[in-house]
Amino acid sequence: MSEVMDIKVTQTVKTRLHDQSLENAPFGHYFTDHMLVAEYKNGAWVSAEIVPYQPLQLDPSLAALHYGQSIFEGIKAYKDDTDNVVIFRPLDNFKRFNISAQRMQMPDVPEEIFIGGMKKLIDLDRNWIPGIANHSLYIRPFMFATDAILGVKPSETYKFVIILSPSGPYFSAPMRIYVEEKYTRAVTGGVGFTKNAGNYGASMHPTIKARELGYDQVLWTDSVEHKYLQEVGMMNVFFIINNVAITPSLEEGTILAGITRDSAIQVLKDMGLNVEERKINIDEIIDAYKANTFTEVFGTGTAATISMIKELRYKDFVMNFNTDESKIAPELKQRLDDIRKSKAPDKYGWLVKI
Ligand code: COI
Repeated sequence: MSEVMDIKVTQTVKTRLHDQSLENAPFGHYFTDHMLVAEYKNGAWVSAEIVPYQPLQLDPSLAALHYGQSIFEGIKAYKDDTDNVVIFRPLDNFKRFNISAQRMQMPDVPEEIFIGGMKKLIDLDRNWIPGIANHSLYIRPFMFATDAILGVKPSETYKFVIILSPSGPYFSAPMRIYVEEKYTRAVTGGVGFTKNAGNYGASMHPTIKARELGYDQVLWTDSVEHKYLQEVGMMNVFFIINNVAITPSLEEGTILAGITRDSAIQVLKDMGLNVEERKINIDEIIDAYKANTFTEVFGTGTAATISMIKELRYKDFVMNFNTDESKIAPELKQRLDDIRKSKAPDKYGWLVKI
């Protein structure tokens, strides 16, 4: 397996494209006509092919189902007004995917399968990419362990799959956020920096508990003091205090190195803001709120892009934000959208054309 040409394509006999409108497609509900499937065994990737979208047949003893060797990525492709198609920073996702793979003791996926296969798949299903504002093609590459053995050990076989989902916005309204004090998303030495499926599974119970209190997502805190801020829901988080953008730093390994986070940092600097990546204590946030210097808070992520937050609750202290008056998050979102839709120069070389 060394050339993109080696990826065999079997096309569907009938497209499903006309069965549904792509306008306001809910996130991750519809899938395109094809998918890529690659197989790893005997220490090598032995096949990669594009086939009609279809269910996978799995052995009940499949290792991934029992012990969680399963990782994924989220990437977006966009169509501009002249029907040009671009993928946003896929090489960064490719690198992060293999960082997740190494931590989960899984094999690296080669670039010719991850990137080459993705490009070929998107090109084949390009009619599915919505050219509508706030819509995109969400790309979901994932890999899971396929050994059919119940012993607890790294699998010797894996499947790598890419599926594509035309989607509208993930969150449609500003969010209410509960600062979590009981549960923890990630610990130092753990897997918080990976896109390992278990991170998302473990977040569901605390999120449902927060929903019962009327909140949309939780703001994750450290496991020891529940004071140092990590991520919001499944996004990175930014605070605007005294016109400085502050976001938790990555070095403890508890936070996903978001591609949108990194893009936001660059664009916020272009907007003239100072950006600080560092430890953030909730007490500092509360003091800034009381001093009226804390003006905005938002999440960044591939699926959610830039998501405004209208309320943060820590214990009984509630911080409210009038998101209609937010200046920085909307400008950041607009600037990122303009780059993705080729309305602004791609000065960082973030777009990969199909
Ligand atoms: C993404 O932003 O791509 C994510 O990983 C969130 C996803 C779990 C919906």
